[in-house]
Amino acid sequence: MANGAAVKPVVRFEIEDGIGIITIDNPPVNALGPGVRDGIIEALETGEADPAVKAMLMIGAGRSFIAGADIRQFGKPRAQPKRPVPDVLDASSKPVVAAIHGYALGGGLEHALACHYRVAVPSAKVGLPEVLIGILPGGGGTQRLPRLIGPRRALEMIVSGRHVPTEEAKALGIIDEILPGSDLRAEAIAYARGIADRRPLPRVRDKADRLEEARSDPGMFEDMRKAIARKAGKQKAPYHCIHCVEAAMTQPFDEGIATERRLFAELENTEEAKALRYAFFAEREVAKIPGLPKDLKLPEIKGAAVVGAGTMGGGIAISFADHGFPVKLLDASPEVLAKGLARIRNTYATSVRRGSLTQAEMDRRLALIEPVEGYEGIAECDAVIEAVFEEMPVKQEVFAKLDSVMKPGALLFSNTSALDIDAIASVTTRPEAVAGTHFFVPANVMKTFEVVNGAKTSPVTLATAMKLGRDIGKISAYAGNCDGFVANRTRIPFNLEQGLMVEEGAMPEQVDRVMVEFGYPVGPFAVNDMSGLDISYATRKRRAAADPNYRGLPITDRLVEMGRLGQKTGAGWYRYANNDRTPIVDPEVHQIIKTVVGELGITQKSFTDEEILHRLLFSSLNEACKILEEGKALRASDIDVMWLNGFGFPRYRGGLMYWADQIGARQVYNQVAIWHQRYGARWKPSALLHQVAEGGGSLREVAARMPS
Ligand code: 3HC
Repeated sequence: MANGAAVKPVVRFEIEDGIGIITIDNPPVNALGPGVRDGIIEALETGEADPAVKAMLMIGAGRSFIAGADIRQFGKPRAQPKRPVPDVLDASSKPVVAAIHGYALGGGLEHALACHYRVAVPSAKVGLPEVLIGILPGGGGTQRLPRLIGPRRALEMIVSGRHVPTEEAKALGIIDEILPGSDLRAEAIAYARGIADRRPLPRVRDKADRLEEARSDPGMFEDMRKAIARKAGKQKAPYHCIHCVEAAMTQPFDEGIATERRLFAELENTEEAKALRYAFFAEREVAKIPGLPKDLKLPEIKGAAVVGAGTMGGGIAISFADHGFPVKLLDASPEVLAKGLARIRNTYATSVRRGSLTQAEMDRRLALIEPVEGYEGIAECDAVIEAVFEEMPVKQEVFAKLDSVMKPGALLFSNTSALDIDAIASVTTRPEAVAGTHFFVPANVMKTFEVVNGAKTSPVTLATAMKLGRDIGKISAYAGNCDGFVANRTRIPFNLEQGLMVEEGAMPEQVDRVMVEFGYPVGPFAVNDMSGLDISYATRKRRAAADPNYRGLPITDRLVEMGRLGQKTGAGWYRYANNDRTPIVDPEVHQIIKTVVGELGITQKSFTDEEILHRLLFSSLNEACKILEEGKALRASDIDVMWLNGFGFPRYRGGLMYWADQIGARQVYNQVAIWHQRYGARWKPSALLHQVAEGGGSLREVAARMPS
């Protein structure tokens, strides 16, 4: 005990009204860290032995019930509890009620499933998200959940890892009763008193009816394997999850538990589990900006506006409405506004058709989006996001206007993907209130949200933008002001090498196959076809005009000039037949490549798959290191977060920097140096990469040298 200060116990036991109350108090989320499981066991044993205790209650202090095992302990040697808590619960002669608020996830829900009753407040969420960190529920969840709600539904929950809200959990049979939740402790004590004398005790492990019912549905496991094949790729965890639920059907409970433990142990230290754990913590770290005062008072954003009702502006407005924020959508042109609103309505209608949104919810969200034609209509909003055409003069005109109409204190954000935020801020009288907020396309779907810190952006503006992103469901990441910021700047070399390799002899379909085999959901050329080749065309022209040494992409340009804009015109890098989105390899593209290459006088060669993969990703990695050198990103892991959530990088590979570490900085550096010799300046190795290679350190742990 340091300084004589008492260490607060992570589990407390007290008796009230004949109910033994076990309170888990391990902030911030009551993870089952050191001492928690033993504390629970000790409390259960105390309650069992005390005749004054008629029933027990397991409840979480703070904001959650239990968010699961302590993920920080995975992959490390750790002390095991005396016995698994669920075994102690199974042996209890007194009923135990789990009272759930906040989250009951992973081991948390597994503890609750081993309790005899479960009650929850309306806002609670339950789930078994282990698969998302490359493992499986290892505390009996794969055996108890199928017995409680039937294997088909259990399978869906376990393989998706999704959070299930209370109401649905009640309908599924996970939750016995929904309590009002104004005073969960008191309400749960009353509930426990109500069931204290009921016998026999309902133990989930003894339930057989749902398994029996499911015997008529033997194909569900194979169906699930097929359904996940594309997304799961080579990952083991989703398949092990299916195997365990199948074991619940084919093995007695204790054997099923043994199968679960065996497969859990197999997964804990796989490369995919390590990468996914890394990604989990990287996504938490990215929220933190070192040096920002902890006690900053942030303004509340009650009402926001979006300027520009194009695809981007509409997607941003949807992001607000999806998270319950009223938002005004401004466009000077009534036609564009009407079209924008129709697009938004369409997006929602598609979700209703697919069954992922109710009509009532669609109506509620649509009502939050208010169309506005004049700037006066948004003047009282607390924040505005400009999403107009990506041209500096256009942006500056809008910002000058915003500065003149928006109320004092309103924050002005620009959804730019590359333009200089200081130049945008310079036309206002409040550059401290200006920051970049870069949404990815489609804005209502993609999670990455880059917050660009201008030279004069105030800490309050920066922190508010970061929070705003999180409030509308995004993962906010800091970026310094530079051309392309962090995400696109790291991505541009990839795009360039992708185009150049085709000039040099790789075929688009080979590049796409290599990247899909690596784990991308779609290859980069097929992605280009989806987003439209004309988008980057304008940017390339702008860059070429600004920089005489700029290396363009003549084959892509030729495709655009021939009207092959991608899926929307039925042809791009591939051909598309009758509204089908499946890319078809097109001999005409091979011919176009041959023609342009002939004009350029390039001699083609063949590429190995590894060369393609490394050339694409090392080019981006080298740029990422330069960004870190310049202090434009805060941490290497922030770049990984952006790649995972913005560019479809396979999550089970951790991210660009994490993946490069698996190869080794030394080897990456050597290859970059060779390509520098061969291809010239664009491959100039980053000094930071060199330094890490020399020092034998890891790239993913690099923090920015000089925060800008
Ligand atoms: N272990 C260790 N730390 C955890 C944790 C866990 N299970 N869950 C959350 N934390 C930490 C976070 O790292 C963060 O720490 P920081 O403040 O130092 O960055 C802090 O708790 C708060 O977390 P969030 O910022 O994520 O808080 P939110 O309120 O946004 O989200 C949450 C809460 C939904 C619970 C989210 O944290 C989460 O999804 N946690 C992981 C849940 C999970 O995967 N559980 C299963 C664990 S594996 C398991 O149980 C195995 C078992 O089957 C044997």
